[in-house]
Amino acid sequence: GVKIVTIGGGSSYTPELVEGFIKRYHELPIKELWLVDIPEGEEKLNIVGTLAKRMVEKSGLPIDVHLTLDRREALKDADFVTTQFRVGLLDARAKDESIPLKYGVIGQETNGPGGLFKGLRTIPVILDICKDMEELCPNAWLVNFTNPAGMVTEAVLRYTNINKVVGLCNVPVGIRMGIAKVLGVEANRIQIDFAGLNHMVYGLDVFLDGESILEDLIDKLTSNNESGVTMKNIVDLGWEPDFIKGLKVIPCPYHRYYYQTSRMLEEELEASKTVGTRAQVVKQVEKELFELYKDPNLNIKPPQLEKRGGAYYSDAACSLISSIYNDKQDIQTVNTRNNGAIASIPDDSAIEINCVITKEGPKPIAVGDLPVAVRGLVQEIKSFERIAAEAAVTGDYNTALLAMVINPLVPSDKIAKQILDEMLEAHKDHLPQF
Ligand code: NAD
Ligand code: G6P
Ligand code: MN
Ligand code: MN
Repeated sequence: GVKIVTIGGGSSYTPELVEGFIKRYHELPIKELWLVDIPEGEEKLNIVGTLAKRMVEKSGLPIDVHLTLDRREALKDADFVTTQFRVGLLDARAKDESIPLKYGVIGQETNGPGGLFKGLRTIPVILDICKDMEELCPNAWLVNFTNPAGMVTEAVLRYTNINKVVGLCNVPVGIRMGIAKVLGVEANRIQIDFAGLNHMVYGLDVFLDGESILEDLIDKLTSNNESGVTMKNIVDLGWEPDFIKGLKVIPCPYHRYYYQTSRMLEEELEASKTVGTRAQVVKQVEKELFELYKDPNLNIKPPQLEKRGGAYYSDAACSLISSIYNDKQDIQTVNTRNNGAIASIPDDSAIEINCVITKEGPKPIAVGDLPVAVRGLVQEIKSFERIAAEAAVTGDYNTALLAMVINPLVPSDKIAKQILDEMLEAHKDHLPQF
């Protein structure tokens, strides 16, 4: 039987993961599922873990669910390790989102200064996990969703001996579902050629039943005040039609921070005065979810989980794990080592791209180069992720400042330094390397 370990098991997304495993038991016979958390997360772990046990019990399947705060005990002889943790919890996210705003800069947990700091907090922990894995389960696959997933995958590839790592995000699945909805067809009739980076991925071509529909689709997606393709955590302001017609590829929802920076900043400032930043909204959603999870009669994933931006990401994880385990050789969009698939990105860097999923892992489908209009931004963000990962590992102040300044959302060296200093202070409890 298969042993799965989920680090950050107290996450409200865990029921989706459990549902995904139960659904696939006939092809992925899991014997043990270990949910790991830290003392601060123990209450959540117990609530969500007890729900997980009820879900398994209802299914009648022989899966043992273990809840633990002992990561090393859990990791022993694991086959797959999934990571979905949040260092510093939602209070740290609230700082990532609100401090940059004071300086007129986008406050977002995976982009700009917020993304940098989420990475600085997360990377030391993921490197520790990798060390434990080398010792306790050297043959296991690491499936990481912990954000910023692109930067985290880059750090694992560059600074650890773990080669069996895959980074995952629900954005590609979300875009496919969004396009299917706009077109009024079943999602399984849509195929998209994705390439780029995490939260910076483009649909280079889109197919309905195997035939390219890119031009018509661009007309549809730009004909309203909303594009219709979004995530629950990102406001959809619609695209300037002539811009997307010129771009000739499908941007992802996170591209709005780059191509609509001032409009998105206005939206964020407005929201921060009314409902609060996304962290505050999520705190409320989580409270409601955990109230539901406590109900001893609940034994399914409640539909309210769809209010979270990451809805369906655990399902993507389950299908990835099953495709590796079964050598399915189907196509999924994941974060993996470039290996020449995108010409203008270093071979040893992490990219997000369509891959054939085999028992040896994802094999990226080469696209040659990206269109000239998007190539530069993708390279710029790759450099940002790489320098940020270096800062996270070394704790070097100048390197952290460099990452902040070269990020396209930060307007000047002086402002970068002010934001950096305030955030280093605000997050110091979770930045042992500085
Ligand atoms: P959350 O705040 O519920 O955190 C999940 C759990 O992690 C908590 O129970 C917390 O106690 C635990 N935790 C914190 N530090 C830990 C550590 N050092 N070791 C083990 N556990 C630890 O977060 P969430 O909203 O469920 O999101 C979890 C992570 O997944 C975040 O990093 C988030 O950005 C990411 N995420 C990624 C995607 C994606 O598309 N890749 C989608 C959704 C969420
Ligand atoms: C999706 C992303 C995740 C992100 C999440 C935020 O857009 O792919 O990487 O972290 O949603 O959702 P939340 O509900 O936490 O704001
Ligand atoms: Mn994501
Ligand atoms: Mn120092």
